[in-house]
This record gives sequence, C-alpha cells and structure tokens, in this order.
Amino acid sequence: MARALAEEGMEAVFSYAGRTASPITQPLPMRVGGFGGIEGLAQYIREQGITHVVDATHPFAAQMSAHAVAACSQANVALAALERQPWAPQTGDDWRIVPDLAAAVQALAGEPACVFLAIGRQNLGLFAGQKHHYLLRLVDPAPQPLANATVVVDRGPFTVGGDLALLRRHAITHIVAKNAGGSGASAKLEAARLLGLPVILIDRPFIPDRLVFSEVDQVMRWLHAGSSAERGV
Ligand SMILES: NC(=O)c1ccc[n+]([C@@H]2O[C@H](COP(=O)([O-])OP(=O)(O)OC[C@H]3O[C@@H](n4cnc5c(N)ncnc54)[C@H](OP(=O)(O)O)[C@@H]3O)[C@@H](O)[C@H]2O)c1
Repeated sequence: MARALAEEGMEAVFSYAGRTASPITQPLPMRVGGFGGIEGLAQYIREQGITHVVDATHPFAAQMSAHAVAACSQANVALAALERQPWAPQTGDDWRIVPDLAAAVQALAGEPACVFLAIGRQNLGLFAGQKHHYLLRLVDPAPQPLANATVVVDRGPFTVGGDLALLRRHAITHIVAKNAGGSGASAKLEAARLLGLPVILIDRPFIPDRLVFSEVDQVMRWLHAGSSAERGV
C-alpha cells in the first residue's frame, strides 16, 4: 500500500503504533505512536488536512480500527480498510477455531504440551502459569513474561521449509495462532498440515462496519474516485 501511494506521488503519511524497536522503513513520511484515542485521531486528521484514511492495520488491531471508524465519522473524512482475507481450512488441517485468546488458553488444558505460541508479544502473559513449554517467535529480543519459553527472534515472511524445520527442531505438539490471513505468516499452517499437528486458531475480533478492500489496487481506485480537492491520505 505504501509503495503504491509513493509510486503515484500521492501525498500520504504512514503511521506506526511504535510497538517494535526497529520498524521497517516505508517509502512514505512516517510517524510513530498513538494519536490519543478517537479525539486525538480526529484532531490529527483535521490538523493535517487528511481527506482519506486507509486502515491497513493487522486484523487483530481492533481498538485502532474502531477508533478509525469513529474518528473519521467525527472528522467527516472517507475511511477504507485494507484487510487480508482470513485463512480457511484445507483438507488435512486439524484446526480448533476459538473466539479469543482466553479460549485459546483453555483449549490447551490437559497434558503438558510443546506449544508454538505464534501470537506476537502483547498477550503472552495470559499463557503464564501453565505446565506447557512454549516456543515464541518475536520481532525484538526484548523481555517477555513466560518463564518456560524458548525465544526465536525473526521477522516474516516465513517459508514452509523454514517453519517445518522449526517445528521439528523444537518437537512442537501444538500451534496457537491468530487468523491473520495473507501469505507472510501462513507457512506455519502448511507446516502443521504436513506434520499433522493441531492448530488452535483464534478468530478475528469484532470491528465496526466500514468499507473493506482486500487488494491494494482496489484501495488505489477508491482513492482516485475521491474528490479532486483531496490533499492527503
Ligand atoms: N494485534 C496484533 O496481533 C498485531 C500483529 C501484527 C501487527 N500489529 C500492528 O501493531 C500495531 C498495534 O497493534 P495493537 O493490536 O496493539 O493495536 P490496538 O490494540 O488496536 O491499538 C491500541 C492503541 O495503539 C495505538 N495504535 C495502534 N495502531 C496504530 C498505528 N498504526 N498508528 C498509531 N497508533 C496506533 C492506538 O493508540 P491511540 O488510542 O493513542 O491512538 C490504539 O488505540 C498495529 O498497527 C497493528 O497493525 C498488530
């Protein structure tokens, strides 16, 4: 999305939450950090003369997405989400779909397991105090709350070969993942299928109604269809 906007020379700013120590540099002016809730985002939109907001956050960034819906409505600017299609099970998959993180913790109840906990860093604490051993793959080597865990520092996109080797090397028996969709993080699901491993897959959170596209081209067409007075994205 950022590349497409930059290639067309469209005036745009890229916003990061600031969760990772060294975020990937984007081909657009970047800003980092929260806006200060709905009011803060609405104020930023007005001050910067933004005419279109593209919510390209992760499908599990539910608060930011809800704030974008409310702030754009308040500031009276157009909003569209760029969202990857969710993953769907294929023949050979052993998926246990759960509604949220708490249900994922419950789904692991039983015998001690060796779990690839592929949910990022933020909610790891929910899995503490269990008898399982965890494998974590994190973007930064910063501290994490689980004592019984092995940490691998790595950044996607990942390959099926690499993930197969990772699951075998750590004798993984279960995978816990969010249904992020897209190709960058799907290798673990293919590797799980090949190894016959169960995947506890967390369903996407609720996000208020908004215009949603799944392809960058569609968002670009939507931007071009906007008013000729548009100034920024
Ligand atoms: N949740 C995941 O599993 C996941 C996975 C991969 C990447 N990410 C990315 O990591 C970021 C944070 O995710 P999250 O789940 O913590 O979000 P969240 O719970 O929806 O948002 C929490 C707060 O973080 C700030 N924020 C989030 N995204 C922002 C952005 N792009 N620019 C500026 N501020 C932002 C906002 O603060 P204010 O209220 O102060 O504006 C928001 O209210 C998102 O941009 C998301 O795309 C999330």
